Amino acid sequence: MSKSILFTGVQPSGFLTIGNYCGTINRWTEFQKKYLCFFCISDLHALTILPKKSKESLNNRILDTLALYLSCGVDPSKSIIFLQSNVYQHTQLHWILSNFSYFGELSRMTQFKYKVNLNQNSPINLSLFSYPILMAADILLYQTNFVPVGLDQKQHLELVGTIARRFNKRYGNIFTIPSIILNNVGFKIMALQNPMKKMSKSDNNLNNSIFLLDSIDSIRIKLYKSLTDSSNPPEVKYDQYNKPGISNLLVILSSLTGKKISDLEIEFNKCTYQYFKKSLLDILLEVILKIQKSYFFFRKDIHYLYDILRLGAENARIHSEKTLCQVQNILNS
Ligand code: TRP
Repeated sequence: MSKSILFTGVQPSGFLTIGNYCGTINRWTEFQKKYLCFFCISDLHALTILPKKSKESLNNRILDTLALYLSCGVDPSKSIIFLQSNVYQHTQLHWILSNFSYFGELSRMTQFKYKVNLNQNSPINLSLFSYPILMAADILLYQTNFVPVGLDQKQHLELVGTIARRFNKRYGNIFTIPSIILNNVGFKIMALQNPMKKMSKSDNNLNNSIFLLDSIDSIRIKLYKSLTDSSNPPEVKYDQYNKPGISNLLVILSSLTGKKISDLEIEFNKCTYQYFKKSLLDILLEVILKIQKSYFFFRKDIHYLYDILRLGAENARIHSEKTLCQVQNILNS
């Protein structure tokens, strides 16, 4: 029996944070064993939020992202890693699917509303609006069974299902309806200084996010500065509403070690926050330094990186062309 298909995308819009790592990437090696995986660097999606940058800079980000994927364990001999813009089938199907997507449902996307709100004084790109349709094209082209995403992408994924069902209802079972794999126990890593919002690659306050490529010193400083609370005596306990800072650090530690939060609460019972942070720092550095070592090794070898993208695109084209042909045939008949 052939393997089920898993598809996921990451924007090359900045360096990856430990939020990306804990949420998703650390599970990819596990997925690689079970599924045929497509890992897509979604550079077209990145255009929706990138300020006008030189091509060189986006190129570099793409190579950085690829090298990071590799250093987190993605293996190009097992999985298909490719650049979205190298496979024209994505934009082609995007346009077709936009005929099956409704203005009302796209307007209700919370990410869209959020981004519009952030940039109140600037005009709103159409691409920001149709962003989820391109995601639908990404996913549906490969007859994807599973899509691992963070909570923030769940609504987009539900819309992908809606669009696929709508198309299928009219034309027969063309698209596989993808199932969502939500990241580890809904783990969502929050900003260090403001644990009520998500840790993000593009946060203006750099102290909010720990990047996989941060120096040891800056990781230490950011972690020690991270917001806790003034419980007296200090209490290392998961309580998202009253102790969002400590809860967030517990989630990070749990995700990195695989230990349950309840076990960590016992382990750090009666410890100071300083001690708890030091323990987290040790684990964090162990994980990050290992990734960095292999990152710098891969990042130097630009020919190797381009080879991976070239081969990945060839493979992705073969798979996606099958679906696109089917779609075009059925629309034209
Ligand atoms: N929009 C996703 C994000 O920002 C990235 C992405 C693009 C994606 N295409 C996808 C994720 C398809 C899952 C499936 O995180």
